[in-house]
Amino acid sequence: MDFLTLSKKRYSVRSYAETPVSDELIEKLLLAAQNAPTAHNNQPQIIYVMRSQEALDIVDASTRARFGAPLVFVVCYDNVLSWKSKDGRDSGIVDASIVATHILLEATDLGLGSVWVGLFKPDILREKLELPENIIPVCVLPMGYASETSVPLNLHDQRRPLSETVRFL
Ligand SMILES: Cc1cc2nc3c(=O)[nH]c(=O)nc-3n(C[C@H](O)[C@H](O)[C@H](O)COP(=O)(O)O)c2cc1C
Repeated sequence: MDFLTLSKKRYSVRSYAETPVSDELIEKLLLAAQNAPTAHNNQPQIIYVMRSQEALDIVDASTRARFGAPLVFVVCYDNVLSWKSKDGRDSGIVDASIVATHILLEATDLGLGSVWVGLFKPDILREKLELPENIIPVCVLPMGYASETSVPLNLHDQRRPLSETVRFL
């Protein structure tokens, strides 16, 4: 599959089959994450792979948006490791977001589905995972095989035309 087709195929999956994701596929997802570019190559990401029932219960306490997925990635960054510009900007959120995007696209390539969940309570994750202050959760990524009834929401196809989002100079 060429990249343009892959990027078009990806959509936010909000209904999952119970089928577990193999360790082999989890490793591929993590290797795709490892390949992500990060500022100064500092690689500040910390990825929690939530797959035990206890871990999934923690996810459920922090968000209503697991959508029945048997596996969840919580993508964080370490703000001690993340690169800071001289004017004080921290690249951590950008780095973690690129890492998460690699995971989403690799998932599509592997025949899996995922969705970026921003609506979660970081304080609950912080408390239950005993995250130190320097570990910042950025997104929750439910992961698994899309259920047979899963379809993209209408929003998926609503793409602003390039004429609105691109400026050729
Ligand atoms: C930063 C960010 C936060 C998001 N938060 C949520 C969320 O909390 N819940 C959810 O169901 N989808 C969430 N989404 C998914 C978007 O709604 C979705 O990507 C968008 O509507 C386009 O649809 P598509 O992913 O199917 O192409 C989020 C996406 C991004 C990039």
